[in-house]
Amino acid sequence: EKAGFDHFMLKEIHEQPKAYRDTMMGRISEDGKSITLKEIGMTAEQIRGIQKVHIVACGTAYHAGLVGKTIIEQLARIPVETDVASEYRYRNPIITEDTLVIVVSQSGETADTLAALREAKRNGARVMAITNVVGSSVAREADDVITTWAGPEIAVASTKAYTSQLIAFYLVGLYFAQTLGTRDEQYIGEVTTALLQLPEQVEALLEQAPVLKLIADSIVKHNSLFFIGRGLDFAVAQEGSLKLKEISYIHSEAYAAGELKHGTLALVEDGTPVIALVTQEELAEKTLSNIKEVKARGAHVLGVTNHSNHEEVAKSVDEVFSIPNTLALLTPALSVVPLQLLSYYASLALGHDVDKPRNLAKSVTVE
Ligand code: F6R
Repeated sequence: EKAGFDHFMLKEIHEQPKAYRDTMMGRISEDGKSITLKEIGMTAEQIRGIQKVHIVACGTAYHAGLVGKTIIEQLARIPVETDVASEYRYRNPIITEDTLVIVVSQSGETADTLAALREAKRNGARVMAITNVVGSSVAREADDVITTWAGPEIAVASTKAYTSQLIAFYLVGLYFAQTLGTRDEQYIGEVTTALLQLPEQVEALLEQAPVLKLIADSIVKHNSLFFIGRGLDFAVAQEGSLKLKEISYIHSEAYAAGELKHGTLALVEDGTPVIALVTQEELAEKTLSNIKEVKARGAHVLGVTNHSNHEEVAKSVDEVFSIPNTLALLTPALSVVPLQLLSYYASLALGHDVDKPRNLAKSVTVE
């Protein structure tokens, strides 16, 4: 049932190209210039009426929601807030009838996410669910359901569900953009062309797994490390850090690269591993100067960048790993893959139960 892989997690990491394709299937027109989301029952007028979006989720799904915020804001120009579901209800959020609440849940059964959904509906908001389980509680109670076609996810650590959630957000963002006219056909065509290339690009990345195994073997000698990045790189850094913690039990923290110097830099000492994501062209220069700050304190830096920035980043770091070039907005769908593999190999090197890490459950049904 593991199809020749040692663990479900590794199998599911390798299933991502298929999960991307299946999640996009039938939702992008033949000419690539329009998006069809039959699952969205909202009329154009209702979409035009959305004043703000709240994205609510837990854990890895929350991290997908952080990327979702940027996607929807950039494509559809609607203001978005992303909240952790266990915090959302208790902050007395301003939910109105013109708020769209998007809940994200692989299982569709997470107690806090379900409670947030109900709170949103009580306040008259429309609720969209992005979920991997057809017929789950979240799917049954939401007004609109976008299914991620990642297939069953067995490993406790979420991989293909997260990346399929990103694909769902790209589709929703584009669908809103085309309805609202915030982006023209040509632009939508450029994004869909890049989206359709992602599966092959992930396949290319997976072939570089042996390099990541070597890096993981050196990381496991440390008991604490940092992930840094700006913008979308920061969102992915948070997911990378969670993944590493949950299956390798190595403490790590994700930091907005520019924020480190406001206190936390004190923890960086000789040999501290820092994984720096530098995939956003516009922010690269700034992140590179943050890399200099940690290097000056003795950090050992792994830079994760894209092919076109490889040379530039290589000069400032100890090791560099490059992902294929894509649009800046789409990079999370590629840059998270090396981080998933790094966590997997770190857990393996330490002899942990990769698929069933301690203290965690696949579906969290308590608040
Ligand atoms: C981490 C992980 C958890 C889940 C979280 C939400 O790898 O799997 O953080 O993402 O418990 O679960 P769902 O998406 O089922 O609501």
